[in-house]
Amino acid sequence: MAGCGSRGSVCPRDALSHQTHLGGRLDEAMQNSLGANAIEVLSLTRRFNSLVAVDHLNFSCASGATFGLLGPNGAGKSTLIKMLTTLLPPSEGTAKIAGCDLLQHPEAVRRKIGYVSQMLSADGDLTGYENLLISAKLYGMPRSERARRIAQALEFMELAQVGGKLVRQYSGGMIRRLEIAQSMLHRPSVLFLDEPSVGLDPSAKRAVWERIAELRREFGTTILMTTHDMEEADHLCDMVAVMHHGILAAMDTPAALKAQVGPEATLDDVFIHFTGATISEGGELRDAARTRITAQRLG
Ligand SMILES: Nc1ncnc2c1ncn2[C@@H]1O[C@H](COP(=O)(O)OP(=O)(O)OP(=O)(O)O)[C@@H](O)[C@H]1O
Ligand SMILES: [Mg+2]
Repeated sequence: MAGCGSRGSVCPRDALSHQTHLGGRLDEAMQNSLGANAIEVLSLTRRFNSLVAVDHLNFSCASGATFGLLGPNGAGKSTLIKMLTTLLPPSEGTAKIAGCDLLQHPEAVRRKIGYVSQMLSADGDLTGYENLLISAKLYGMPRSERARRIAQALEFMELAQVGGKLVRQYSGGMIRRLEIAQSMLHRPSVLFLDEPSVGLDPSAKRAVWERIAELRREFGTTILMTTHDMEEADHLCDMVAVMHHGILAAMDTPAALKAQVGPEATLDDVFIHFTGATISEGGELRDAARTRITAQRLG
Protein backbone atom coordinates (compact mmCIF):
# COMPACT_ATOMS: atom_id res chain seq x y z
CA MET A 1 0.00 0.00 0.00
CA ALA A 2 1.32 3.42 -0.90
CA GLY A 3 2.32 6.23 1.40
CA CYS A 4 4.58 4.69 4.03
CA GLY A 5 7.43 3.12 2.14
CA SER A 6 6.51 -0.46 3.03
CA ARG A 7 7.59 -3.02 0.48
CA GLY A 8 4.75 -4.73 -1.39
CA SER A 9 1.08 -4.81 -0.58
CA VAL A 10 -0.57 -6.82 2.13
CA CYS A 11 -2.53 -9.86 1.12
CA PRO A 12 -5.81 -10.04 3.05
CA ARG A 13 -5.85 -13.82 2.77
CA ASP A 14 -2.51 -14.05 4.59
CA ALA A 15 -4.00 -12.00 7.39
CA LEU A 16 -7.05 -14.25 7.52
CA SER A 17 -4.88 -17.25 8.20
CA HIS A 18 -3.95 -15.75 11.58
CA GLN A 19 -7.52 -15.93 12.78
CA THR A 20 -8.69 -19.37 11.94
CA HIS A 21 -8.50 -20.53 15.56
CA LEU A 22 -11.25 -18.04 16.36
CA GLY A 23 -13.94 -19.73 14.32
CA GLY A 24 -14.90 -20.59 10.76
CA ARG A 25 -17.54 -17.92 10.32
CA LEU A 26 -14.93 -15.21 10.68
CA ASP A 27 -13.22 -16.12 7.43
CA GLU A 28 -16.52 -15.93 5.62
CA ALA A 29 -17.40 -12.57 7.17
CA MET A 30 -14.00 -11.15 6.34
CA GLN A 31 -14.07 -12.46 2.78
CA ASN A 32 -17.42 -10.82 2.21
CA SER A 33 -16.08 -7.45 3.29
CA LEU A 34 -14.72 -5.03 0.74
CA GLY A 35 -11.08 -4.16 0.10
CA ALA A 36 -7.90 -4.94 1.98
CA ASN A 37 -7.44 -4.90 5.72
CA ALA A 38 -7.06 -1.48 7.31
CA ILE A 39 -5.67 -2.96 10.52
CA GLU A 40 -3.50 -6.07 10.83
CA VAL A 41 -2.29 -6.99 14.26
CA LEU A 42 0.64 -9.39 14.27
CA SER A 43 1.55 -11.09 17.53
CA LEU A 44 1.25 -7.75 19.31
CA THR A 45 2.27 -7.93 22.96
CA ARG A 46 2.69 -5.46 25.82
CA ARG A 47 4.10 -6.28 29.22
CA PHE A 48 4.14 -4.07 32.29
CA ASN A 49 6.79 -5.79 34.41
CA SER A 50 5.36 -9.27 35.03
CA LEU A 51 1.86 -8.38 33.78
CA VAL A 52 1.11 -9.30 30.17
CA ALA A 53 -1.57 -6.70 29.37
CA VAL A 54 -1.76 -7.64 25.66
CA ASP A 55 -0.70 -11.18 24.87
CA HIS A 56 0.44 -12.03 21.32
CA LEU A 57 -2.71 -10.75 19.62
CA ASN A 58 -3.41 -11.58 15.98
CA PHE A 59 -6.42 -10.19 14.17
CA SER A 60 -7.34 -7.96 11.29
CA CYS A 61 -10.05 -5.48 10.46
CA ALA A 62 -11.36 -4.98 6.94
CA SER A 63 -11.15 -1.57 5.36
CA GLY A 64 -14.32 0.44 5.96
CA ALA A 65 -15.54 -1.81 8.77
CA THR A 66 -16.47 -0.81 12.30
CA PHE A 67 -14.73 -3.14 14.74
CA GLY A 68 -15.81 -3.29 18.37
CA LEU A 69 -13.52 -4.35 21.17
CA LEU A 70 -15.36 -5.53 24.27
CA GLY A 71 -13.93 -6.80 27.53
CA PRO A 72 -13.93 -6.27 31.30
CA ASN A 73 -11.96 -3.55 33.06
CA GLY A 74 -8.26 -4.28 32.73
CA ALA A 75 -8.69 -6.64 29.74
CA GLY A 76 -6.07 -4.70 27.76
CA LYS A 77 -8.27 -2.74 25.35
CA SER A 78 -6.77 0.72 25.92
CA THR A 79 -3.26 -0.72 25.98
CA LEU A 80 -3.92 -2.27 22.57
CA ILE A 81 -5.26 1.03 21.20
CA LYS A 82 -2.28 2.95 22.61
CA MET A 83 0.08 0.61 20.77
CA LEU A 84 -1.93 0.84 17.53
CA THR A 85 -1.81 4.65 17.71
CA THR A 86 1.99 4.64 18.32
CA LEU A 87 1.58 6.10 21.83
CA LEU A 88 3.00 3.02 23.54
CA PRO A 89 5.81 0.84 22.18
CA PRO A 90 4.97 -2.86 21.91
CA SER A 91 7.06 -5.36 23.90
CA GLU A 92 6.80 -7.77 20.98
CA GLY A 93 5.07 -8.03 17.60
CA THR A 94 3.79 -5.27 15.39
CA ALA A 95 0.75 -4.11 13.42
CA LYS A 96 0.02 -2.56 10.07
CA ILE A 97 -2.35 0.37 9.90
CA ALA A 98 -3.56 1.26 6.40
CA GLY A 99 -0.63 -0.80 5.13
CA CYS A 100 2.01 1.01 7.23
CA ASP A 101 4.05 -0.87 9.78
CA LEU A 102 3.82 0.56 13.28
CA LEU A 103 7.49 0.04 14.10
CA GLN A 104 9.01 0.89 10.73
CA HIS A 105 6.85 3.89 9.82
CA PRO A 106 5.27 5.38 12.95
CA GLU A 107 5.00 8.89 11.40
CA ALA A 108 3.12 7.49 8.39
CA VAL A 109 0.78 5.63 10.75
CA ARG A 110 0.13 8.86 12.69
CA ARG A 111 -0.85 10.65 9.48
CA LYS A 112 -3.40 7.97 8.64
CA ILE A 113 -5.15 7.72 11.99
CA GLY A 114 -7.36 9.67 14.35
CA TYR A 115 -7.66 8.88 18.05
CA VAL A 116 -10.16 9.72 20.77
CA SER A 117 -8.77 8.71 24.15
CA GLN A 118 -10.76 7.08 26.93
CA MET A 119 -10.42 10.17 29.14
CA LEU A 120 -12.01 13.41 27.92
CA SER A 121 -9.22 15.50 26.44
CA ALA A 122 -10.71 18.72 25.02
CA ASP A 123 -9.50 21.92 26.71
CA GLY A 124 -12.31 23.48 28.75
CA ASP A 125 -10.69 26.93 28.75
CA LEU A 126 -10.86 27.16 24.95
CA THR A 127 -13.82 27.32 22.60
CA GLY A 128 -14.77 24.39 20.38
CA TYR A 129 -13.35 26.30 17.41
CA GLU A 130 -10.03 26.91 19.22
CA ASN A 131 -9.73 23.24 20.20
CA LEU A 132 -10.20 22.32 16.54
CA LEU A 133 -7.67 24.95 15.46
CA ILE A 134 -5.04 23.32 17.70
CA SER A 135 -5.78 19.95 16.09
CA ALA A 136 -5.57 21.50 12.61
CA LYS A 137 -2.12 22.91 13.44
CA LEU A 138 -0.98 19.63 15.01
CA TYR A 139 -2.00 17.75 11.88
CA GLY A 140 -0.09 20.26 9.73
CA MET A 141 -3.18 21.40 7.87
CA PRO A 142 -2.38 24.35 5.53
CA ARG A 143 -3.47 27.72 7.00
CA SER A 144 -5.67 28.42 3.95
CA GLU A 145 -7.76 25.27 4.58
CA ARG A 146 -8.13 25.46 8.34
CA ALA A 147 -11.20 27.70 8.70
CA ARG A 148 -13.19 25.82 6.05
CA ARG A 149 -12.34 22.38 7.42
CA ILE A 150 -13.09 23.43 11.00
CA ALA A 151 -16.46 24.87 9.94
CA GLN A 152 -17.24 21.61 8.09
CA ALA A 153 -16.24 19.52 11.10
CA LEU A 154 -18.40 21.60 13.46
CA GLU A 155 -21.30 21.29 11.04
CA PHE A 156 -20.78 17.54 10.63
CA MET A 157 -20.76 16.99 14.39
CA GLU A 158 -23.80 19.27 14.80
CA LEU A 159 -21.81 21.75 16.89
CA ALA A 160 -21.91 24.74 14.51
CA GLN A 161 -24.12 26.74 16.91
CA VAL A 162 -21.72 26.31 19.85
CA GLY A 163 -18.33 26.52 18.10
CA GLY A 164 -17.63 29.91 19.73
CA LYS A 165 -18.54 28.79 23.27
CA LEU A 166 -16.06 27.69 25.91
CA VAL A 167 -15.90 23.90 26.08
CA ARG A 168 -16.40 23.95 29.86
CA GLN A 169 -19.97 25.03 29.08
CA TYR A 170 -20.54 21.99 26.83
CA SER A 171 -22.41 18.88 27.92
CA GLY A 172 -20.52 15.56 28.01
CA GLY A 173 -22.10 14.54 24.69
CA MET A 174 -21.04 17.80 23.04
CA ILE A 175 -17.46 17.35 24.31
CA ARG A 176 -17.31 13.81 22.94
CA ARG A 177 -18.61 14.99 19.56
CA LEU A 178 -16.02 17.78 19.57
CA GLU A 179 -13.26 15.26 20.31
CA ILE A 180 -14.42 13.07 17.44
CA ALA A 181 -14.41 16.19 15.24
CA GLN A 182 -10.81 16.87 16.36
CA SER A 183 -9.77 13.31 15.58
CA MET A 184 -11.23 13.34 12.05
CA LEU A 185 -10.23 16.84 10.96
CA HIS A 186 -7.44 15.52 8.73
CA ARG A 187 -9.77 12.81 7.28
CA PRO A 188 -7.92 9.82 8.70
CA SER A 189 -8.57 6.48 7.06
CA VAL A 190 -8.60 4.70 10.43
CA LEU A 191 -10.19 6.07 13.59
CA PHE A 192 -9.59 4.68 17.09
CA LEU A 193 -12.33 5.53 19.59
CA ASP A 194 -11.73 4.43 23.18
CA GLU A 195 -15.16 4.32 24.83
CA PRO A 196 -16.69 7.10 22.70
CA SER A 197 -19.97 7.33 24.61
CA VAL A 198 -18.92 6.65 28.20
CA GLY A 199 -20.96 8.58 30.77
CA LEU A 200 -23.45 9.96 28.23
CA ASP A 201 -27.22 9.94 28.67
CA PRO A 202 -29.23 7.87 26.16
CA SER A 203 -30.00 10.73 23.78
CA ALA A 204 -26.43 12.11 23.81
CA LYS A 205 -25.24 8.56 23.20
CA ARG A 206 -27.58 8.21 20.21
CA ALA A 207 -26.24 11.49 18.78
CA VAL A 208 -22.66 10.19 19.04
CA TRP A 209 -23.68 6.87 17.45
CA GLU A 210 -25.30 8.72 14.56
CA ARG A 211 -22.14 10.74 13.93
CA ILE A 212 -19.95 7.62 14.06
CA ALA A 213 -22.22 5.82 11.58
CA GLU A 214 -22.20 8.90 9.34
CA LEU A 215 -18.38 9.03 9.38
CA ARG A 216 -18.34 5.59 7.94
CA ARG A 217 -21.07 6.26 5.37
CA GLU A 218 -19.67 9.57 4.18
CA PHE A 219 -15.90 8.97 4.33
CA GLY A 220 -15.56 5.16 4.45
CA THR A 221 -13.56 5.53 7.67
CA THR A 222 -12.45 2.28 9.29
CA ILE A 223 -13.29 2.45 12.99
CA LEU A 224 -11.88 0.44 15.87
CA MET A 225 -13.76 1.26 19.04
CA THR A 226 -13.94 -0.06 22.57
CA THR A 227 -17.12 -0.05 24.57
CA HIS A 228 -18.75 -1.46 27.69
CA ASP A 229 -22.14 -0.80 26.10
CA MET A 230 -23.37 -3.95 24.40
CA GLU A 231 -26.22 -2.12 22.67
CA GLU A 232 -23.64 0.26 21.21
CA ALA A 233 -21.54 -2.61 19.90
CA ASP A 234 -24.60 -4.29 18.42
CA HIS A 235 -25.78 -1.07 16.82
CA LEU A 236 -22.49 0.09 15.29
CA CYS A 237 -20.11 -2.83 14.79
CA ASP A 238 -19.77 -5.30 11.92
CA MET A 239 -17.22 -7.32 13.85
CA VAL A 240 -16.83 -7.68 17.58
CA ALA A 241 -13.94 -9.13 19.58
CA VAL A 242 -14.20 -10.06 23.25
CA MET A 243 -10.90 -9.38 24.98
CA HIS A 244 -10.05 -10.97 28.33
CA HIS A 245 -6.71 -11.04 30.16
CA GLY A 246 -4.88 -9.71 27.11
CA ILE A 247 -6.16 -12.24 24.59
CA LEU A 248 -9.15 -12.37 22.24
CA ALA A 249 -11.57 -14.90 23.70
CA ALA A 250 -13.89 -14.58 20.69
CA MET A 251 -14.23 -12.63 17.46
CA ASP A 252 -17.00 -12.64 14.89
CA THR A 253 -20.00 -10.68 13.69
CA PRO A 254 -22.41 -9.77 16.52
CA ALA A 255 -25.06 -12.08 15.02
CA ALA A 256 -22.67 -15.03 14.78
CA LEU A 257 -21.41 -14.52 18.34
CA LYS A 258 -24.95 -14.45 19.67
CA ALA A 259 -25.85 -17.59 17.70
CA GLN A 260 -22.77 -19.30 19.14
CA VAL A 261 -23.98 -18.68 22.71
CA GLY A 262 -27.65 -19.60 22.29
CA PRO A 263 -30.82 -19.08 20.25
CA GLU A 264 -32.05 -16.10 22.33
CA ALA A 265 -28.64 -14.77 23.35
CA THR A 266 -27.86 -11.06 23.51
CA LEU A 267 -24.40 -9.49 23.33
CA ASP A 268 -24.58 -9.21 27.15
CA ASP A 269 -24.82 -13.02 27.23
CA VAL A 270 -21.89 -13.24 24.79
CA PHE A 271 -19.79 -11.00 27.04
CA ILE A 272 -20.58 -13.04 30.14
CA HIS A 273 -20.08 -16.33 28.30
CA PHE A 274 -16.58 -15.46 27.12
CA THR A 275 -15.32 -13.53 30.14
CA GLY A 276 -17.27 -14.92 33.09
CA ALA A 277 -17.62 -11.28 34.18
CA THR A 278 -20.74 -9.21 34.63
CA ILE A 279 -21.25 -6.13 32.48
CA SER A 280 -21.45 -3.67 35.37
CA GLU A 281 -18.28 -4.94 37.09
CA GLY A 282 -16.90 -1.72 38.55
CA GLY A 283 -18.30 0.22 35.63
CA GLU A 284 -20.64 2.64 37.33
CA LEU A 285 -18.19 3.64 40.01
CA ARG A 286 -15.45 4.07 37.48
CA ASP A 287 -17.61 6.14 35.11
CA ALA A 288 -18.73 8.35 37.97
CA ALA A 289 -15.12 8.89 39.03
CA ARG A 290 -14.15 9.75 35.48
CA THR A 291 -17.01 12.20 35.08
CA ARG A 292 -16.00 13.83 38.36
CA ILE A 293 -12.36 14.15 37.31
CA THR A 294 -13.39 15.59 33.95
CA ALA A 295 -15.80 18.06 35.54
CA GLN A 296 -13.04 19.22 37.90
CA ARG A 297 -10.60 19.60 35.06
CA LEU A 298 -12.93 21.42 32.70
CA GLY A 299 -14.63 23.49 35.38
N1 LIG B 1 1.20 2.27 32.32
C1 LIG B 1 0.90 1.15 32.95
N2 LIG B 1 1.71 0.61 33.89
C2 LIG B 1 1.39 -0.54 34.50
N3 LIG B 1 0.28 -1.26 34.25
C3 LIG B 1 -0.58 -0.76 33.33
C4 LIG B 1 -0.31 0.45 32.63
N4 LIG B 1 -1.34 0.67 31.76
C5 LIG B 1 -2.20 -0.35 31.92
N5 LIG B 1 -1.75 -1.21 32.85
C6 LIG B 1 -2.40 -2.45 33.26
O1 LIG B 1 -2.65 -3.22 32.09
C7 LIG B 1 -3.89 -3.89 32.19
C8 LIG B 1 -4.75 -3.49 31.01
O2 LIG B 1 -5.16 -2.13 31.18
P1 LIG B 1 -6.04 -1.37 30.10
O3 LIG B 1 -6.15 0.04 30.52
O4 LIG B 1 -5.49 -1.67 28.75
O5 LIG B 1 -7.45 -2.11 30.26
P2 LIG B 1 -8.84 -1.78 29.57
O6 LIG B 1 -9.31 -3.05 28.93
O7 LIG B 1 -8.73 -0.58 28.72
O8 LIG B 1 -9.76 -1.50 30.84
P3 LIG B 1 -10.97 -0.45 31.04
O9 LIG B 1 -12.20 -1.16 30.51
O10 LIG B 1 -11.03 -0.29 32.52
O11 LIG B 1 -10.65 0.82 30.34
C9 LIG B 1 -4.49 -3.51 33.55
O12 LIG B 1 -4.15 -4.53 34.46
C10 LIG B 1 -3.76 -2.23 33.89
O13 LIG B 1 -3.66 -2.05 35.28
MG1 LIG C 1 -9.60 1.26 28.71
